[in-house]
Amino acid sequence: MNILVTGGAGYIGSILTEELIKQGHRVLVLDNLSRGHHAAVTPGADFIQADLGNSAALDDIFQQHRLEAVMHLAACTSVGQSMTEPGLFFWNNLACGINLIEHMLKHGVKKIISSSTAAVYGEPRELPITENSPTNPVNAYGESKLMFERILGWYSKAYGLESTSLRYFNVAGASKRLGSDHYPETNLIPNVIKVALEHTEHLPVFGTDYNTKDGTCIRDYIHVLDIARAHILALSHLGQNPESQVYNLGNGEGFSVMEVIEAARRITGAAIPIKVCPRRAGDPEKLVASCALAKDSIGWEPLYPRLEDILESAWQWQKEHPQGYKVGV
Ligand code: UFG
Repeated sequence: MNILVTGGAGYIGSILTEELIKQGHRVLVLDNLSRGHHAAVTPGADFIQADLGNSAALDDIFQQHRLEAVMHLAACTSVGQSMTEPGLFFWNNLACGINLIEHMLKHGVKKIISSSTAAVYGEPRELPITENSPTNPVNAYGESKLMFERILGWYSKAYGLESTSLRYFNVAGASKRLGSDHYPETNLIPNVIKVALEHTEHLPVFGTDYNTKDGTCIRDYIHVLDIARAHILALSHLGQNPESQVYNLGNGEGFSVMEVIEAARRITGAAIPIKVCPRRAGDPEKLVASCALAKDSIGWEPLYPRLEDILESAWQWQKEHPQGYKVGV
C-alpha cells in the first residue's frame, strides 16, 4: 500500500517505517523535524519536511502521492511537559490532527491508524486496564490524545473514516538501526542507559512514596518492534471491526522504576547511581495493560515481551550511537 507516516522521523515512526518498507509497502514520511531526525528516515521511504498545521503542504502531499492510508504518530508526547505547556499539546495533538483528517477526507483517504496512549486512563481503579476501563487523564498529554480518539469516532460516524487508535503503554527498545533520541530525553529506559554509559552522573527517581511494592511507579514496558507490528496488523484489519476502534498495546506485566534500574544494572554491568527526587507532576501510580482485545481482534501478541530483551536492545543501540543521530546511523 501507499502509506503516509506522520512523525516518521521520530522514535516509533522511524521504526514503523522501517518495518513497513521491509514488508513491501511504499512509505511517505512527513515530519516537521521539531523532534525527529532526518537521519532516522529509513532509506527507501520518501520524505517531506512539513508541519501538519500547514494546509497548503497537506494539499500538495495528498495531490501528488496516491496515498491509501495514514499512520499518524506525529505528536508531543512528554507527560511532564504537558503539565507546564498544555497549549502545545492541544495544538499539535488535537488541532493539527484535525487538520490532517480534514485533508485526508478532502482527498478521499479514509483509513487511519492513530497513535494514542495509556495516559488516557489516568489513575486506573483496577489492573490490568482494559479498553472498557474508565478514561480520566491526569495530564494534558493524555487528555489531548483522548479527545483526538473521540474526534476520530465522530468522523467515522459522519464521514465513514475508518480509524484505529492504538493506546501504547511504555514503549522502549530499539531496532538494529534505529532507536530513541530525544532532546531533552524524559523517558526512563533511555535515561537509565545514559547513566550506564556515564553520559549523566545519576538517574533521578521521581517519587519513592507511591503505594507500590518499593514506592516507585509501575509501568508496562513494550518493545518498539511489537508496537510497529501492531500498526501493520491493525491496518490489515481496518474495516473488519467497528469503524472506530481502540486497542491497548502492552505486555500485561508491570515493573517498578527500581526494578527497571535493577534489570539495567544486570544487563549493562554498570552501577547506575540514583538520586531520589520529588514526584513528577502528572505521573499515574500504576499502568498495566490487558491486551486481550488486540489479540482476539487483530491477532497481535508481543514477540519480545521480556523486559531484559527490551533493555538489551536499547543498550546495544545507545552504545553504538552515543551521540544519538548526531553522527548518523
Ligand atoms: N522516571 C524516573 N526518572 C526518569 C524518567 C522517568 O523516575 O529519569 C519515572 C517516571 O516518573 C515514571 C516512570 O519512570 O514513573 C516512567 O516514566 P517515562 O517518562 O519513561 O514514561 P511515562 O509513563 O511518563 O510515559 C510514557 C510515554 C507516554 C505514554 C505513557 C503511557 O512517554 O507517551 O508512557 O504509559 F503515554
